[in-house]
Amino acid sequence: MDSLTSEIAEIRSSYVRDRLAFVPGERMVRIVQALGATDEDLDRLVTVSDALESDPTLPFRKTRTGRFGFDPGAMEVRRLEFQPFMLSTEDDFVRHDAGQVRVFDEIRDDLQLNTALQALFVFKYMVFDGMAVEHRPKLDYDSDRWVCTLLNVRTTTTRDLIGEPALEGVHSDGVDHTMTTYLGSTNMTEDSAVTFLHEMDEVNGVRWHETDPDLVRARAQHRDFLDTCLIVDHELKHSVSTLHAADPDRPATRDLLAFLTRRPVGGGHHSYEFDSPAPHSTLPMTVALSTLDESTRTAG
Ligand SMILES: [Fe+2]
Repeated sequence: MDSLTSEIAEIRSSYVRDRLAFVPGERMVRIVQALGATDEDLDRLVTVSDALESDPTLPFRKTRTGRFGFDPGAMEVRRLEFQPFMLSTEDDFVRHDAGQVRVFDEIRDDLQLNTALQALFVFKYMVFDGMAVEHRPKLDYDSDRWVCTLLNVRTTTTRDLIGEPALEGVHSDGVDHTMTTYLGSTNMTEDSAVTFLHEMDEVNGVRWHETDPDLVRARAQHRDFLDTCLIVDHELKHSVSTLHAADPDRPATRDLLAFLTRRPVGGGHHSYEFDSPAPHSTLPMTVALSTLDESTRTAG
C-alpha cells in the first residue's frame, strides 16, 4: 500500500469509528498534493473567496454554490446544472430562511477548475465511499449516485454586523456527509468560530453557548489552511460560535468551503424539484474519482 492510500485509509477508519474526523491542514496539503493539487492552485485557493459577491438571505455572508454529482458508475465527479437551494426544518435546520428557496451566485471556473479543489472532491469520496450511515427520510438509498452541494462562504464581522458562521445554532445540513475545509481568515480572534458536535438529542436552533454540555461529543476549530472536518450529518448535529474581530476597527473575515453530500432525493422531499442529475451546460467540470479497495478499507 502506498503512503497516500494508507493515510486516507487511516482517516477513513477513524471517520467510520467516530462518525467524525478532523484532519489538520498540514496533512491535508500533503494529501491533496499527492492527489494532483499544484502549488499554484493551492496559493490561488487562499484568495478565491475575494471574488465572492453576495448572499440571498444573510447580510454578514458572501456565498457561491455549485452542485456536483459523484457518479460511481463512470467513476467521475461532474458539475451539475444550476438549481435553487433549500434547507427546511425537516433537515434539522431551524432559521428564518428555512424552507425558503434560495438562489446563490454560482461557483465559477476559478474554483471548480482548481486542482486543489478537485483533489478535495476525490479525497472526500475515498473517505466515505462504501460506508454505511443512518438513513435520512426521503433520500434514495437505492441509488449509487451522490449529490454534493459545494458552498464557498466568507463570513464577515464589522462594527455594525456580527458574523455568525452558523446563525441557525444547533443544526444538521440535510445530507449524509458534511465536509468543511478552512481557507483562511483575517483579524479573527483565537476563540472565534469553534465548531461543536452535538448528540442528536440536542435541540435544533439552540445557540452554541446555550447547549447541554453533556450532549457535546466533540469540538474542533479550523485555524490553519485546509483544516478539514468530516461529519456523518444525520448522526451528529453541529453548531459554530461567533466570529469576533481582534481589532474591532477593522473587519474580520473567515473563508470556508463546505461540501454537503447526500443521496439523491426521492418523491415527497422538499428538494425533489431541485435535484437534477443533468450536467452544467456552460460551466462543465469532470474529474476522475479513485476509491480504496475492499482490503484496504478493512485493513485501515
Ligand atoms: Fe452546517
